[in-house]
Amino acid sequence: MDAPAVDSARIAQAVEVLKRGGLVAVPTETVYGLAADAANEAAVRAVFAAKGRPADHPVIVHVADASAIDAWAREVPDSARALAAAFWPGPLTLVLKRSPRALDVVTGGQDTVGLRCPAHPWAHALLQAFGGALAAPSANRFGGLSPTTAEHVRADLGEKPTGALDLILDGGACPVGIESTIVDLSGAQPTLLRPGSITRLALEQVLGTPVAEPGGDAPRAPGRLERHYAPRTPLEVVPVDRLGSRLAALFHLRVAVLAPAAVLATLRAAPAVQLHASEGAEAYARELYASLHELDQAGAERIVVSAPPAGPEWTAIHDRLRRARAGSHPR
Ligand code: TXA
Ligand code: MG
Repeated sequence: MDAPAVDSARIAQAVEVLKRGGLVAVPTETVYGLAADAANEAAVRAVFAAKGRPADHPVIVHVADASAIDAWAREVPDSARALAAAFWPGPLTLVLKRSPRALDVVTGGQDTVGLRCPAHPWAHALLQAFGGALAAPSANRFGGLSPTTAEHVRADLGEKPTGALDLILDGGACPVGIESTIVDLSGAQPTLLRPGSITRLALEQVLGTPVAEPGGDAPRAPGRLERHYAPRTPLEVVPVDRLGSRLAALFHLRVAVLAPAAVLATLRAAPAVQLHASEGAEAYARELYASLHELDQAGAERIVVSAPPAGPEWTAIHDRLRRARAGSHPR
């Protein structure tokens, strides 16, 4: 599971690309990011163009360590410092009031900026060597599945001359596998904008205060649009006890199923395609996007996912599956 050793020659190459305003796919512990120099407006615009993402959506600024908070944010609350001390480097994004350094193109014109210090050795090495901050959304076309391997990025966005990216760094499969937890600390109360592997409970334990679910006036976050993170194949999530009957009802379709091996073993008829789902939340999250990519490419007419268990460690997984289902209308 360890990432391949950081290749300093590749990192140096990536730094050169970034310094001249180019685009680099970089592995992080969550998903692969599509990185550009956060201080270079044209480079950040090129990120939006490569993804096909609307220009008013903000991107996360990736920083090398917590000392960058004061350069990028203003009126920083103690809660931000406490969360950074507890979870950085790691899969947590803090939304704070922006400093003048944060360009409109990065913040989507909002008065806040999202900051994250990634833990992945390749992302960390790149940030150290680059010396600046990197604006990086997930390295996939807007609305599609997030990439957790360099191969996913290559297949979706590609490298120049035929693709959109100047360089793809291959740091192996992402160990967390789903996007960072996003918490908004710019308002009166900490608010969870996107669940992730760092749970709301874990945030509340550090803060000693409740963390709210987003209300209607929460800042824009495309990760919160329903139609997002979606495969091309229509996808449905079915409770374990109804899986057999649902598959029977879909007998006329070629179906690809994601379910635990023990559940698959109970089915009377084997689905056309079946993938084993892990029983633990950590492993399930790590494998989720790779499984969905694989099921999406299996030539099936329907993807059926056996609903994972309930419980706080599964919240982010249910969130991603719900979005995958909502967005998975045939295109
Ligand atoms: O794990 C991750 O967060 C990955 C890796 C590459 O770091 N990045 C990622 O980026 O998922 P992206 O752009 O696919 O999703 C970032 C989310 C979006 O929903 C965006 O709207 C939200 O973060 N966001 C960024 N800045 C924000 C801000 N100032 N206020 C509210 N939401 C913000
Ligand atoms: Mg994304």
